[in-house]
Amino acid sequence: MPLSPIQIASMWREVLILSNVQAGEKVLVLTSSHSNPALIEGAMRAAAELNTKVARLDLLPTWHVAEGRSDATTIDGISAIEGHDLAISAMKAADMVIDLLWLIHSPAQKEVLKSGTRMLLAYEPPEVLARVMPSLEDRRRVLAARNAYAHGKRIRITSDAGTDLTADIGDFPANAEYGFAEQPGRWDHWPSGFVARVTNLGTARGKVVLAPGDIILPFNTYVQSDIHLAIEDGAITHIEGGFDAEYLRAYMKDFNDPNAYTVSHLGWGLQPKARWTAIGMNDKSSTFGMEARAFYGNFLFSTGPVAGRPSPCHLDIPMRNCSFFVDNEPMVMKGEVIPADQKVSRPS
Ligand SMILES: [Fe+2]
Repeated sequence: MPLSPIQIASMWREVLILSNVQAGEKVLVLTSSHSNPALIEGAMRAAAELNTKVARLDLLPTWHVAEGRSDATTIDGISAIEGHDLAISAMKAADMVIDLLWLIHSPAQKEVLKSGTRMLLAYEPPEVLARVMPSLEDRRRVLAARNAYAHGKRIRITSDAGTDLTADIGDFPANAEYGFAEQPGRWDHWPSGFVARVTNLGTARGKVVLAPGDIILPFNTYVQSDIHLAIEDGAITHIEGGFDAEYLRAYMKDFNDPNAYTVSHLGWGLQPKARWTAIGMNDKSSTFGMEARAFYGNFLFSTGPVAGRPSPCHLDIPMRNCSFFVDNEPMVMKGEVIPADQKVSRPS
């Protein structure tokens, strides 16, 4: 059953309060023709109820020739605000931007965040937002994991399916997403719940074996047969297997971009409210897979853009039953998260 407008506004109110929205603050709601009207109305109503100075800015959508369907997540790094001084000025003038448009990873978005504006992206259908309402406990859990990930020098990921991947870390920060943006300059995404870190360029090596049940985003499908990825010098060199491998190989090749094969951010899911099964239950075009990215204990493997090496081809691939080690310290064992206060050292 769909949620009522009152329920959606109530959810927004809770998330805006978590985001430390105060009376008198300037809140800007960014929308476009593909934004969900129920989310627009709920966000505007909640912001007004909190006595903020709320305004809506409606922008034209962007489109890229490589988009396979009308999924804003398919292409990375372009957005409706690039070079749009009017929009950028308004966003910088706001205390908080609610992004119902999808601006993730775009250069103009980073410029806005640097000015101190905080931003919260919400794009999933209301039913998914309701299932994965963020909480202070989510923040505690995710920040504890982020802190454990922040000090390492080397990571290793293994699985019984055959994954054995290593990489050096330290050149890029460990990032935490927990579903609300309460600090100046912070960006977050509702719903979420994971840690992610770009590994040192050129250092990822080994193999990644995608097994049945792993999810490839933005395909929004479960892998049905093993896909073997060979990785050298920080990038995928071979993709082998059956039809699933052939499809993935062809999809990436169509971008005609060598940067598409770079190993990007690696991390693990920390959100018990998110469901691994959600991709199978939702209309494929209605979701872009945040529950898949966040479900508890997944190894979130990704490819494509990293700092200084942009690529429009970005894949997020949540994998099950993997173990994730930071400096030989287990963070996840065979898909089970080891909470930060229960870790045991493992000999190398
Ligand atoms: Fe990603």
